[in-house]
Amino acid sequence: MNTELDSKLLLVLFIICFSDAFAGGSRTMIAQVKNIHYKETSSLLVNVKDFGARADGRTDDSKAFEAAWKEACETTGAVTLLVPHGTYLIGPIKFAGPCKNVSNITVQMKGYLIASTNLSEYRFGAGWVEFGGVEGLTLTGGGTFDGRGAKAWPYNGCPTHFNCKLLPTNVKFVAMKKTIVRRITSVNSKSFHIALVECKNFRGSKIKISAPANSPNTDGIHIERSSSVHVSRSHIGTGDDCISVGQGNSEVTIASITCGPGHGISVGSLGRYPNEGDVRGLVVRDSTMTGTMNGVRIKTWANSPGSSAATNMTFENIIMNNVSNPIIIDQAYCPFTSCPTKPPSRVKLSDIYFKNIRGTSSSAVAVALECSKGIPCQNIYLENVHLDLSSGEKQPTSSCKNVEAKYIGTQVPPPCA
Ligand SMILES: *[C@@H]1O[C@H](CO)[C@@H](O)[C@H](O)[C@H]1NC(C)=O
Ligand SMILES: *[C@@H]1O[C@H](CO)[C@@H](O)[C@H](O)[C@H]1NC(C)=O
Ligand SMILES: *[C@@H]1O[C@H](CO)[C@@H](O)[C@H](O)[C@H]1NC(C)=O
Ligand SMILES: *[C@@H]1O[C@H](CO)[C@@H](O)[C@H](O)[C@H]1NC(C)=O
Ligand SMILES: *[C@@H]1O[C@H](CO)[C@@H](O)[C@H](O)[C@H]1NC(C)=O
Repeated sequence: MNTELDSKLLLVLFIICFSDAFAGGSRTMIAQVKNIHYKETSSLLVNVKDFGARADGRTDDSKAFEAAWKEACETTGAVTLLVPHGTYLIGPIKFAGPCKNVSNITVQMKGYLIASTNLSEYRFGAGWVEFGGVEGLTLTGGGTFDGRGAKAWPYNGCPTHFNCKLLPTNVKFVAMKKTIVRRITSVNSKSFHIALVECKNFRGSKIKISAPANSPNTDGIHIERSSSVHVSRSHIGTGDDCISVGQGNSEVTIASITCGPGHGISVGSLGRYPNEGDVRGLVVRDSTMTGTMNGVRIKTWANSPGSSAATNMTFENIIMNNVSNPIIIDQAYCPFTSCPTKPPSRVKLSDIYFKNIRGTSSSAVAVALECSKGIPCQNIYLENVHLDLSSGEKQPTSSCKNVEAKYIGTQVPPPCA
């Protein structure tokens, strides 16, 4: 270690001991020397193993992770929280900010995290691993979040009940700013894999997500009330939407995604609750759907209690391989055997572009545009769409309700009459 690093280390120790003295902390200087190291990049390094994490796959390591996070969050400047290789059993855990004096916090997740399977440990609505209120977080390192959802899936009432309790999301980001998630894997989540709520400025890439095709509500990435979100170069195969763009989002770009199995890339469902926010400025491009139930879908509840809008959305350069509903707008969405009385959806859809969409459809109706009787869709464009039937038989068809779409270039199936 050179003199410059030595003096930085001393300065940091001084700051920590100084602030500890104020906080009445009882940690000793020796503990600090043990727990904090400099990386060559001169950012601080905090290792969960130095906080008692056992990584034996049996002992609950949640407390060690929380203590290590606290240490990292209370430092100054750039800091790295390291989770070395190994299998860690983790219960519900929160990495909460703000980390006032931290400029960047990098979680180097090299480990394999397994979730506790005891559902009574989890709080309703919380994530399994939850990051909240942090600015400048990078989550990376090639590690895995394994939700071990198989035991929980039978307890998921959401496919059949409106007022269901959502099981824990594998990794949840709440009120985060400037987040980067890169090279992370999520498998077998109890419900959603990754969820963003009220986040600003999020960039996700090289994310791998997988769960069986028949696992309920295991959406890959769910985005809600967030803005400036960019997700790219990721592989997602689940039992529900690969990516779902919920209410209140703006400036969301989704690019270079391979999706399947799953329900495709969806906007919605919108109009489930009163006071939902609008969706504006969505781009989905350069992606491939294989064997999915839907390709690109917009769905709004038939009986929306409030009114909202979804506008300026572009779906372009998408390849469909044997997809049941490659292009679908469904404004009479009702996933249950019956929904309460059905006034037409009050979600207004406008300025929606489907461009360069080609491949195969496994069902006869390849383009289904079912808009609301109350508020017909406006400015729906289809440009260069070529979808054949997977079976190689006759051409598929289009179906339209309450919409006059505008057609440009190639159209297979042919436009609605
Ligand atoms: C942040 O740094 C400032 C000055 O460098 C210091 O006064 C303050 O106590 C620090 N806050 C925390 C939460 O460590
Ligand atoms: C913090 O992260 C941002 C985004 O990756 C980067 O541009 C910036 O250089 C980083 N700053 C420090 C001090 O590491
Ligand atoms: C499950 O968690 C609850 C709440 O923490 C606890 O009371 C119970 O003993 C746990 N059950 C098992 C089998 O560990
Ligand atoms: C539509 O959305 C795109 C992508 O977010 C954005 O760049 C563009 O400015 C928006 N257009 C309008 C008219 O708001
Ligand atoms: C296409 O998907 C259907 C189910 O949607 C499946 O039965 C069929 O085997 C698939 N065909 C190919 C060629 O993958």
